[in-house]
Amino acid sequence: MTETVSLTMDEPVAHSLLDEDAQGVIGRPLNRIDGPLKVAGKATYAAEYQLDNLAHGFLIGAKFGRGRVTRIDAEQARTMPGVIDVFWDFDHFIRNPQQGGQKSKPVQGVRDVQYFGEPIAIAVAETFEQARAAAHAVKVEWIEEPGLFDFDGRLDEAVTPPEGATEPYACKGDIDAAMAQAAVTVDAVWTTPSQNSAAMEMHASIASWDDEGNLTVHGSYQMPASDRQQLADALSLPPEKVRIVSRYVGGGFGSKLGIAPESVASALAAKAIGRPVKTVMARQQVFDATVRRSNTRQRIRLGATAQGKLLAIGHETIGSNLPEEDFFEPAGIATQFLYAGDARRITHDNVPMNRLLSGSMRAPGEAAGMLALECAMDELAEALKLDPVAFRKLNEPEADPQKEQPFSSRRLVECYDDAAAKFGWEQRNRTPGGLRQGEWLVGHGMAASARSNKLQPSKARVAVEADGRVVVETDMTDIGTGTYTILAQIAGELLGQPLTHVEVRLGDNRYPPGAGSGGSFGAGSSGTSVYVACQSLRERIAAKLGVAADGVTFKDGLVIAENRTTPLGEIAGGMEVIGEIEPGKMDEDVTQASYGAHFCEVHVNAHTGEMRVKRWVSSFAAGRILNEKTARSQCIGGIVFGIGAALTEEAVHDWRNGKIVNRDLAEYHVPAHADVPHIEVTFLPERDVHANPMQAKGIGELGISGAGAAVVNAIYNATGIRVRDYPVTLDKLL
Ligand code: MOS
Repeated sequence: MTETVSLTMDEPVAHSLLDEDAQGVIGRPLNRIDGPLKVAGKATYAAEYQLDNLAHGFLIGAKFGRGRVTRIDAEQARTMPGVIDVFWDFDHFIRNPQQGGQKSKPVQGVRDVQYFGEPIAIAVAETFEQARAAAHAVKVEWIEEPGLFDFDGRLDEAVTPPEGATEPYACKGDIDAAMAQAAVTVDAVWTTPSQNSAAMEMHASIASWDDEGNLTVHGSYQMPASDRQQLADALSLPPEKVRIVSRYVGGGFGSKLGIAPESVASALAAKAIGRPVKTVMARQQVFDATVRRSNTRQRIRLGATAQGKLLAIGHETIGSNLPEEDFFEPAGIATQFLYAGDARRITHDNVPMNRLLSGSMRAPGEAAGMLALECAMDELAEALKLDPVAFRKLNEPEADPQKEQPFSSRRLVECYDDAAAKFGWEQRNRTPGGLRQGEWLVGHGMAASARSNKLQPSKARVAVEADGRVVVETDMTDIGTGTYTILAQIAGELLGQPLTHVEVRLGDNRYPPGAGSGGSFGAGSSGTSVYVACQSLRERIAAKLGVAADGVTFKDGLVIAENRTTPLGEIAGGMEVIGEIEPGKMDEDVTQASYGAHFCEVHVNAHTGEMRVKRWVSSFAAGRILNEKTARSQCIGGIVFGIGAALTEEAVHDWRNGKIVNRDLAEYHVPAHADVPHIEVTFLPERDVHANPMQAKGIGELGISGAGAAVVNAIYNATGIRVRDYPVTLDKLL
């Protein structure tokens, strides 16, 4: 049995082994080690596995928003060329489990349909095209029942979600009294629409069973450890009987945190026909039947003294989800700790609706919430006649104002200053609507960025082979984020090997369970598990040499102690350890977050309202940066997401049945290259001793947080028009 060495993060780790930097790979802007495989088509994504005797599935979705399926007639479909069968085992089809891998739901039948497009059956055939044709030929009869499709008219039906990992309510003091006392106030409502993660790779599964009843699913998932449990629960199997393989994932952004219906349907169909079944969701099905970010209605109340000291902060969010679902869009999360102010009221409620399940999408909470908060801050700064940067600095808290506990690390003010200087904020347009270049109105805007940081339990095995090669194994995923590369950098740095001598194996339940990719915790959590394993290996090697652990240097494949130099493989070949990290007191006793500041210039056409983001500067402080290039790409990707949230992204629901009507990338608009200017990203040096032994914080969801608000503040600065209804499409400016 390989020994497991565990660290619970109860204490700060003041000295990080990564600071030794003997190998010189940690933090460097190195190319992804999986990059060549990807561009050569050799990185195998879920749908690309070639299994013998493979059959193809195609999901059939309900064409009504709420009601009961009364009859499915597949007689004609079954006679079509290549069709193997059509299945609608109501006892086993499931809705998506709760997002985030926190818990899985019991099996539910979908004879009772809760949202338009909900999968109710699967057609299986020899080819994809034959399965799709059969799916369209299946006749479904149903009885429609009255559904909950109206949001704005049913706000008073909003219910408070139960307390869970995130508390729906956080209140302090008397906000009404504080607002009444305040010299200057903002009290307004912002709305954000439903959104879809719209990852490049569609959800896909290939399910195959062996003779002993073990199920393997090659799937496109972010969290194989919890996805395995969810799939096992859905199929009433013990988790040991299920293996999920997600070695390469073409983006997830939250939509692949939990299992999606195609995995269960494929597994059931494969079992029934005794052949592997591959089901790739069509793009429209991804919009219909995976998960959405909830639409929100956010009331922000800010009250300040005449000098600009905040007295009151209110952020009351109403979102929506299916009846009985607990998940809520925690839009007020960053509002809890971003600014000082004694009276605080942060609430979240949900209107039950027969719309697709809502769940986590990149920066659940901050992404939608800071679209409102950071525009409200801009409005209040203007009312106070203060520079929005100066106003924010005036309200920079010493400690977490809600929980009254220290920040682990926070260089937000330095982020403002650094980005403002690089942007040239001093030369900004100071008169809304007052700067024009030809037919273009020019505006400048800024916003803060903040995203909570935390650890999740994670394990990794690190083994040294006889030739000194290092192998890292964990079921953590790389969803395009750079996990393969940073885990290799951590192991290479700590064991003194170049990256060519480190092999990282990810995304397979055969490896120790990792944190998975979510919540900006993936790198910190899985990276720490590798760190802990390598630290233990270093100690073993030192003990074998009879020297103190801090007396050994690991460099260039060699172990150097006192005057002796030994190849790593010679002394450590055959050694292996499983490293484990558990979140501890540091996650509770100090408030951890990554921070940043966005500045941008937007041009608005004075005649047509067309908006063009022209210039972008952001500075971030997120603890140690593990790889400058992959980190930068994460931040740029997040900012592009924020530009989309500000200007174009909106899943439009049909008011009659909840159906998402713009369910493809031709009609659901995300920014294309021409919509995005050069984005300048700077990381300020920082170490966070409370976060983990690497002293690194999360960045995956930092870039998006606040980015859209900077765009909208710049649009106001250009035009003098405040739009509080996202996305800010040009019709709203005319
Ligand atoms: Mo993230 S929304 O936890 O993938």
